[in-house]
Amino acid sequence: MCGISAYIGEKEAVPILLEGIKRLEYRGYDSCGVATIFEKELVCRKGAGKIKDVNSKLKLFELKGCVGIAQTRWATHGEPNDVNAHPHFSENKEIAIVHNGIIENASSLRKVLREKGYNFRSKTDSEVVAFLIEDLIKEGNSMGDAFMKALKLVEGAFAIVAINRKKPHKLYVAKQSSPLVLGIANDGLYVASDILPIQKYTRKVVYLQDGDVGILTKSNYSIRDLSNVDVNRDVNELNEEIEETSIGNFEHFMLKEIHEQPKTIHRAFRGRIDNDTAKFGGLNISEKELKRIKRIILVGCGTSWHACLVGGYLLEDIAKIPSQVEYASEFRYKKPVLKEDDLLVVLSQSGETADSIAAINEAKKKGVKTIGLVNSVGSSIARLVDGGIYLHAGQEIGVASTKTFTSHLAVLYLLSVYLGRLNGSLDSEKAKEMLNELEGIPGIVSEMLKDSSKIEEVASKYFEGNNALYLGRHYNFPIALEGALKLKEISYIHAEGYPAAEMKHGPIALIDENMPVVVIAPEGRLYSKILSNIEEVKSRRGKVIVITTNGLEDGFDEVIKIPKVSDYLMPLVSVIPVQLLSYYVAKKRGCDIDKPRNLAKSVTVE
Ligand code: M6R
Repeated sequence: MCGISAYIGEKEAVPILLEGIKRLEYRGYDSCGVATIFEKELVCRKGAGKIKDVNSKLKLFELKGCVGIAQTRWATHGEPNDVNAHPHFSENKEIAIVHNGIIENASSLRKVLREKGYNFRSKTDSEVVAFLIEDLIKEGNSMGDAFMKALKLVEGAFAIVAINRKKPHKLYVAKQSSPLVLGIANDGLYVASDILPIQKYTRKVVYLQDGDVGILTKSNYSIRDLSNVDVNRDVNELNEEIEETSIGNFEHFMLKEIHEQPKTIHRAFRGRIDNDTAKFGGLNISEKELKRIKRIILVGCGTSWHACLVGGYLLEDIAKIPSQVEYASEFRYKKPVLKEDDLLVVLSQSGETADSIAAINEAKKKGVKTIGLVNSVGSSIARLVDGGIYLHAGQEIGVASTKTFTSHLAVLYLLSVYLGRLNGSLDSEKAKEMLNELEGIPGIVSEMLKDSSKIEEVASKYFEGNNALYLGRHYNFPIALEGALKLKEISYIHAEGYPAAEMKHGPIALIDENMPVVVIAPEGRLYSKILSNIEEVKSRRGKVIVITTNGLEDGFDEVIKIPKVSDYLMPLVSVIPVQLLSYYVAKKRGCDIDKPRNLAKSVTVE
């Protein structure tokens, strides 16, 4: 995680760096800092807290210089405090570095350096890199060689940018498993963890590859691999428009993004419906190859994993292709048995999730084709997979994923229809009817969003609780999981999602008059079954909050009504109230909704 921004050029660096890390604050926000070289001095200000607060307290904006580095942190090693904030100095304070990733052998490297007499200031893994560089310079290496040699000694994941007081016209950059992008502009060179801080200044970018080590001046750059051999990297032209990220009239980005869903669901299928099937521009896998697919494995993390669960049901139901869903973090290490007629479908909003990237690499090693359903254009996953379908949901800023979840669902539905048509499991008439229904979903969601008073009322009654249970069946089981995750992450209430029928195998022991149980129970194939599960809760005096399409059934504590749609598309509708419920509960509790504690939007460490 962590966001890095760096600059070398003609302009004052600090305004660029501060805006850069602000753009990257979604990657982590527990502390931040800036270092520049000005009049032969290496100066640094850093501290714990969000950028806005640290900037007003420490006046980061006062620093001068045309070369500088900055970072916004999500702590891995060392608690979020002033000392552990980046940048980190070498012991002699001649070198400063910012780092994103984890140096896995930091403790053994620290031990060696301690034995040589070095004294560390922080508890981070990152600081060791600055000390190593200093030590290698003392052994007679130039800064460039010391940087390269230090990187050969470290193990793990890193994106690193370094400056040296004695080399004020150079920036040193390196990448291994954590993303780093260079932006090439007339006034200088920009460096960042992704294109967001760069795109405003230039459309020309270089995506560094694993093992790349670069030296930048204000008008030039050279890149070598870790064996010190020059490498050429393509200069890519950014085509996409710069995104609008203002909060508008909304109090939080999360609420804004919930309300954007009619538009973002529409964008997910716009231009992709072709009479009785779907079409995609970037699959890069031929129809012949797709027809040979015997099994689809969906991988993702967190909310994206919940979307995978819905996708697994859709692909089996509609396209009749055996599908299995895996946590990316487990898949990468479980030694999966993969065959060439498998297809790996990776879901990710950010396109930077480390575990999902590792899952793709695992599949590729075994000759399995990979497709990415990704929101962030040009992200690591988007570039790594064989083919992909972009969500086109626009930047999602709230840490809690909302609009990209429904975009994922819409795209998975289209993919299922496409594959069903391709392999003959779905007839033309049914496909047309299904696509037609999808086209109606933005209007339905838009109507739902017009009145959230019932949800606000429920939130007001239950916001002081410590626990909640979410239940659902079949297509709505992932929505129960998603509802529980949303509540946990933004309101810090302990919540569990369960398949409703599983409840009696354990969680039922938790139910008493203090346990709110949110049941996602729309009419549909399993409606009568879930009504029985609700009775089981009521018999134990649990408080039942039912999200249903039906009229009020007697005896529920609360009923949140949703429109009736087919089972396939119900998750797109039933997720809206659980998103809003978590939002209003968190608001009543006074939580920092867009930047919940301990979290980051993009999880680039494993
Ligand atoms: O960017 P990704 O979709 O790969 O991120 C995966 C998870 O970290 C993410 O879905 C996370 O669970 C959500 N932000 C939670 O709302």
